[in-house]
Amino acid sequence: MADFVGAIDQGTTSTRFMIFDRAGHEIGRHQREHRQILPGPGMVEHDADEIWENTLKTIDGALAGAGLTAADLAVVGITNQRESVLVWDRRTGRPCHHVIVWQDTRTAAMIPALDADLLRERTGLPPATYFSATKVRWLLDNIPGLRARAEAGDVLFGTMDSWLIWNLTGGRHLTDVTNASRTQLMNLHTLDWDDELLRLFGIPRAMLPEIRSSAEVYGHAAAGLPGVPIAAAIGDQQAALFGQTCFAPGEAKCTYGTGNFVLLNTGTTPVRSTHGLLTTVAYRFGGDAPVYALEGSIAATGSAVQWLRDQLGIISSAGGSEELAAQVEDSEGVCFVPAFSGLFAPYWRPDARAAIVGLSRYHTAAHITRAALEAICYQTRDVVAAMARDSGTALDCLKVDGGVTANALCMQLQADILGVLVSRPAVAETTALGAAYAAGLAVGFWTSPEQLRANWREDRRWRPSWSPERRDEGITRWRAAIDRTLDWVS
Ligand code: G3P
Repeated sequence: MADFVGAIDQGTTSTRFMIFDRAGHEIGRHQREHRQILPGPGMVEHDADEIWENTLKTIDGALAGAGLTAADLAVVGITNQRESVLVWDRRTGRPCHHVIVWQDTRTAAMIPALDADLLRERTGLPPATYFSATKVRWLLDNIPGLRARAEAGDVLFGTMDSWLIWNLTGGRHLTDVTNASRTQLMNLHTLDWDDELLRLFGIPRAMLPEIRSSAEVYGHAAAGLPGVPIAAAIGDQQAALFGQTCFAPGEAKCTYGTGNFVLLNTGTTPVRSTHGLLTTVAYRFGGDAPVYALEGSIAATGSAVQWLRDQLGIISSAGGSEELAAQVEDSEGVCFVPAFSGLFAPYWRPDARAAIVGLSRYHTAAHITRAALEAICYQTRDVVAAMARDSGTALDCLKVDGGVTANALCMQLQADILGVLVSRPAVAETTALGAAYAAGLAVGFWTSPEQLRANWREDRRWRPSWSPERRDEGITRWRAAIDRTLDWVS
């Protein structure tokens, strides 16, 4: 068997290809950004052809950079931005529209009419623009003739994993159970498309992919990686849980990207949230029982720091936020709620809008920047607290990964605000690593989860340093700021 495993990580802002060895060490990588197409307020689209071309270029770039060829790869796994929706023509393979991205809120008017109890019970998800179902409905309603073609099975729906599998394998129409669990069309208990939900959203079954496990051979690549088995597809947040080797119930991780996402492994029984979290599939290996997770999804994290850079111009790079925020002891009472796409978990208020509150003339860019970093941590604390209430167990350590973890001040604040240890692994690219692990397990490149656990190494940890009084004071002020954000729209 070849010595390396590849992973395609198709994210919200970029696509990368990474190569790992058996010890989980990075051997090569290449990354390309794609355009964020913003056709109107609240609308976010991607060009699916651009993403596929970038995928091919990143594969070539990573292999060339590492001095390898496709023959050196034992297997390849796919991980991807979840929920984002594409419809394409079965015969020509041409997209019928741009990808409608998970952050897109164009379907907000459909949400109030949805049956929240039914959706939560069947799918583990609340009514929200975030998930795929209303986006597919929007396409069927707005592209002339699309519905008839969908009913005839002439056009196909898929999330980005499906699009990549289709192109890599020369036309297999598949998805995995983690991605399907984010469409709001899959029954979380049967792991099949739910006929009542399909009726409710008006989506023909004929356009849907077959749901497979997260780790099995889906086919061999015809394009890009000739002959290499494609043996994993797993949503990016679930892949990070896997890459962090959170295989046991009670283990959790937080990935800080465009947004940030806390996932808690809850084992083989889905735990229904009564505190605003999502119940989702964490992964499923071949014919094994599925493993579920509770998820706290936060829409704006890296994007809040980007806003300071691009819209306010008070920092010149995301990394500059650490230096500027460190110029002050704290935010001196300023709170920043970055509800640019409304508030996700645990509030689910698409109508909320961002706010900076508590300003006086004394405050500077440093205070606002510090408040932005604190907001990342307080939002995370909100979902971790909801998790403790849902699961009945409090975390004693949060494994972290993703871009923001390079900001040591932010990670110290995270430990202070959570009151628990925060631990970062040596391999920061846990999302790609998780997809590689899943693919490698599927073909016997790795033989057991224990072998993967042995690869996990801590790089740095942050211990909480705030007193309980200081933490409580901060949380009370944060809650008051959230209330102002909600007041604004009511
Ligand atoms: O649910 C959305 C999530 O999958 C996007 O992750 O890292 O591409 O921002 P990311």
